[in-house]
Amino acid sequence: MQLENTNIILGITGGIAAYKTPDLVRKLVAKGANVRVVMTQSAKEFVSPLALQTVSGNPVSDDLLDKDAEAAMGHIELARWADKLLVAPATANFMAKLTHGLADDLLSTLCLATPAPICVAPAMNQQMWFAEATQANLKILEQRKIQFLGPAQGEQACGDVGPGRMLEPQEIADLLAQETLEQVLAGKRISITAGPTREEIDPVRYLSNHSSGKMGYALAIAAQELGATVTLISGPVNIPPPAKIQTVSVSSAQQMYDAVMQTTHNCDIFIACAAVADYRVQQKNHQKIKKSESELTLTFIKNPDILSDVAHLAQAPFTLGFAAETQNLREYAIGKLQRKKLNMIAANDVSDSTIGFNSEQNALSVFWSKGEKKLDIADKQLLAMQLMHLVAQRYTEDTND
Ligand code: C5P
Repeated sequence: MQLENTNIILGITGGIAAYKTPDLVRKLVAKGANVRVVMTQSAKEFVSPLALQTVSGNPVSDDLLDKDAEAAMGHIELARWADKLLVAPATANFMAKLTHGLADDLLSTLCLATPAPICVAPAMNQQMWFAEATQANLKILEQRKIQFLGPAQGEQACGDVGPGRMLEPQEIADLLAQETLEQVLAGKRISITAGPTREEIDPVRYLSNHSSGKMGYALAIAAQELGATVTLISGPVNIPPPAKIQTVSVSSAQQMYDAVMQTTHNCDIFIACAAVADYRVQQKNHQKIKKSESELTLTFIKNPDILSDVAHLAQAPFTLGFAAETQNLREYAIGKLQRKKLNMIAANDVSDSTIGFNSEQNALSVFWSKGEKKLDIADKQLLAMQLMHLVAQRYTEDTND
């Protein structure tokens, strides 16, 4: 959701990649953006204005001299409304018009009239992209701080291979989202534990829990999007390691402990999101236990408390722990905050089966020594972003105290 409340004008020009724009609108809207579509006349040959109106939930504009449209939201008003003007796909012709400041249709006029930053996702035949005129226009536009997203390499609609393909809608939406985020964690090193641990009983059996790792992975992605360098220490999960995040895979609590102690000595922030097994069997059986006896007794010993040990280090980083509770949420969470000597704790009520452990959604109550904040039920990725903003805020205040 990183484009919440961001007003985006999506300008569509007449290239074959225009057929992908309803999907682009959906991806932008899914990230929370308000999208208003402006089309050139030739764009309408490739994609239907009605489709774009339906997915954006807003009327589509295409005419500078349309009396009705001007009466509803005039072009100057529209230009001011935008936080960002994205042109995708942008043809070679559009790039040339932008370079020369033409204003002969609604989209080119908006480009001159808007104070918002302009982003361009070019799409054209590779020969046209390499044409001297296009490259010269590119240089001028880049000097003017127009931002270029792509083009991508690959096979083109015309059969050529080379640069000129429009980036995929998801890539464009991700890039826009990333740069609208203030890099509040720039330069910070963050270690995050995630997922369950497995405590082996014998070569074929283990003790574990239902943690999916989704919340920890979402936090790692959010921290990276906010500019941090992230190390993710993960127990066994069914989700792929996030791109460009150093991920250390472990199995048992002891392995997680060792990996954390190795990576945490120089980190600024430590987030313990893993559901670490509190106990392990005292003596792992080296052979499979046979079901010969009618009763089986195993002796368990306590695992080290990773979070508490990190928080008690002489040079402890800023620490955030999690508390999954079924009752007395506030009291138990604050107890853990104090006992483990944490900077913050995020508590969730796991008695509510619609949120938490294995679901897509979660809700958190966050506590620190001088305050608390409720983060309402939401998708884990959005919640992770809200929590990382709170961490950044608390970290800055604590280190400036
Ligand atoms: O005490 P409790 O297990 O409820 O504390 C939960 C918090 O402590 C979580 O942040 C969890 O990741 C962390 N923890 C840990 N090592 C353990 C047990 C819990 O880091 N052995």
